[in-house]
Amino acid sequence: MLNKKFSPPRQSAFDARFEAQKIAFGPVVFQCVRYAWKRGILQAIADAGDTGRSVDSLAEEGRWSSYVLKVVLETCLSAGVVYLDEGNYVLDKTGFCILTDSITQVNIDFNHDVCYQALFGLEQTLDAEKPLGLKVFGDWPTLYEGLAQLPEPARNSWLAFDHYYSDTSFPAIMPDVFATAPRRVMDIGANTGKFSLAALAADAAVELHAVDLPGQLAVLETNLREAGLRERVVLHPTDLLDDAAALPGGMDLVWMSQFLSCFSEQAIASIFRRVAAALAPRGQVLVMDTFWDRQRYDIASYCLINTSPYFNNLASGNSKVYESADYIRLARAAGLELLTARDGIGYCHSLLRFARAD
Ligand SMILES: C[S@@+](CC[C@H](N)C(=O)[O-])C[C@H]1O[C@@H](n2cnc3c(N)ncnc32)[C@H](O)[C@@H]1O
Repeated sequence: MLNKKFSPPRQSAFDARFEAQKIAFGPVVFQCVRYAWKRGILQAIADAGDTGRSVDSLAEEGRWSSYVLKVVLETCLSAGVVYLDEGNYVLDKTGFCILTDSITQVNIDFNHDVCYQALFGLEQTLDAEKPLGLKVFGDWPTLYEGLAQLPEPARNSWLAFDHYYSDTSFPAIMPDVFATAPRRVMDIGANTGKFSLAALAADAAVELHAVDLPGQLAVLETNLREAGLRERVVLHPTDLLDDAAALPGGMDLVWMSQFLSCFSEQAIASIFRRVAAALAPRGQVLVMDTFWDRQRYDIASYCLINTSPYFNNLASGNSKVYESADYIRLARAAGLELLTARDGIGYCHSLLRFARAD
């Protein structure tokens, strides 16, 4: 777990100073490596295998000048993306990840296309606890209200980031979803309908209630029509930030995936109260989310922890990637007790199952 690193550091002062420079130059390295990837420089080097390519031979292709190649590849060299072998640049393992690992690519695109410009103002957005970075894209109170109209490539990169994490998990949790044979299932934060469509495909009798903001539900409705499943879903356009907005009742199962992390603790408490009220007598709540404290590998905790600034800067101003104990405490305050917790789903999901304490 990542928090083992919070113990006294074992690195030398020299190493620590190098690590500090990596932070100082992080944005520079990010942009140069991304350029080398997007403009095909890394691919050209990879194609040459262990022999690698010299700057001169790359420049001869006429796609990049020697100057650009030197600037970009020297940064890649400093970052371990390529190495030098007798004057030739050869792809190193980190470069191989950039070129072939889709989660790395999704994360780079998300950070570049969605977060990068806005993060320049992080100081102000943290001080205000408001998503002021959103002004880069438009004039909305939260990103979710603007999601359907987000300019490209931001919208696609946002959806790829969101879907990449949840898509791999949805097939794995269908047995959990139908374990109690629910008839009425409510998908809160249904977004483009990935879960709703998977649940409808998994059970021919289930009745789906999809809750989200109007913009997302319009996209969901189109996707349902295209799949020929529109009549099996009741749409509930609802702003869950409005404490007075009640949820439809009598639900056997309430499903919330990557949803509560969009909200402040105060709002999560209010949502849990309304979810508890929406349950049928033996109804249950399934929360699938990314908790940085429940990860097996530091790499997952690292990615999740560093997604929280996006939640402040662009998403809602006061939300984050939480620790699981936060949800469990807030659910308990709403009268919901934790029944089970299952980790290791997809890339980094956990599934918390709650029922009414009474
Ligand atoms: C991170 S996405 C998760 C989508 C989907 N459940 C998944 O797992 O991929 C969060 C969803 O919550 C919705 N949402 C955010 N704020 C909301 C609000 N105030 N009321 C209703 N839905 C909201 C967004 O529109 C979006 O569809």
